[in-house]
Amino acid sequence: MDNRPIGLLDSGVGGFTVVKKVIEKMPNESTVFIGDSAHMPYGNKTREEVIELTRRSVKFLLQKDVKLIIFACNTATAAAMPVLQNEVEQQIIGVIQSGSLAASRTTKNKKVAVVATPVTINSHAYQKEIKFRDPAIEVTELAAPKLAPLIEQRKSHSVNLKAVDQSLQPILKQDFDTLVLGCTHYPIIQNEFAEVLGKQVQIVDPADQVAQYTYNVMRRDGLFNDHSGKTQHEYYTTGDANEFAAMGRSFLGEKALVAKHVNTEN
Ligand code: SIN
Repeated sequence: MDNRPIGLLDSGVGGFTVVKKVIEKMPNESTVFIGDSAHMPYGNKTREEVIELTRRSVKFLLQKDVKLIIFACNTATAAAMPVLQNEVEQQIIGVIQSGSLAASRTTKNKKVAVVATPVTINSHAYQKEIKFRDPAIEVTELAAPKLAPLIEQRKSHSVNLKAVDQSLQPILKQDFDTLVLGCTHYPIIQNEFAEVLGKQVQIVDPADQVAQYTYNVMRRDGLFNDHSGKTQHEYYTTGDANEFAAMGRSFLGEKALVAKHVNTEN
């Protein structure tokens, strides 16, 4: 038994999509989520910059005494997870392995497309993981540098729809039957993706599988809490706390959600 909270990090509000699934799967667990909105987007930075920024959020979560850490950010998973896992004792769980597993199980015609930030796409992490599971699957990778920053700005449905349509144009004529939302911001506008792609394409949100994987790891390692204390969910951001909380409230449906501003630079 371990009554410490689960830590989650992201470059911004996208991590709420993973927080939601983790809370749904494990309602008795406490969580601490930090979104590094002051430095988003990670997806257009260098690998070294992403590693350093992610390291700061990891340090913050360790100060909060978390029992394990979920990188609720594809870019941080692709660029920083292999390095930072060697620096901390706590197990780190990333989103890419889970998303790849879900994609390989979903596709029927063995054609999968992955949309993500440039850092994630350039790492080819999804392609490697999906092909590791099934070498026969064809993987099309598409970088969409504009989408995550746009989602962070909470634009209207029509603006988001146009942006998704423009971003997906290079692959829309291909016959993949499964598309992976390879950035945790994208599920916030999953309806817009579905509208552009149509019914013939299955959309994979890696967060579902991440929550299940985290549950399995915690069961294996005896990390569940003993239900003796009150469950708490804490939200922190390096950016504007009110905007961050507003996104959290609308996405999680938690009317009382508040967030605190923190500086992770020291
Ligand atoms: C970003 O900060 O560019 C997006 C985060 C992600 O890859 O999930």
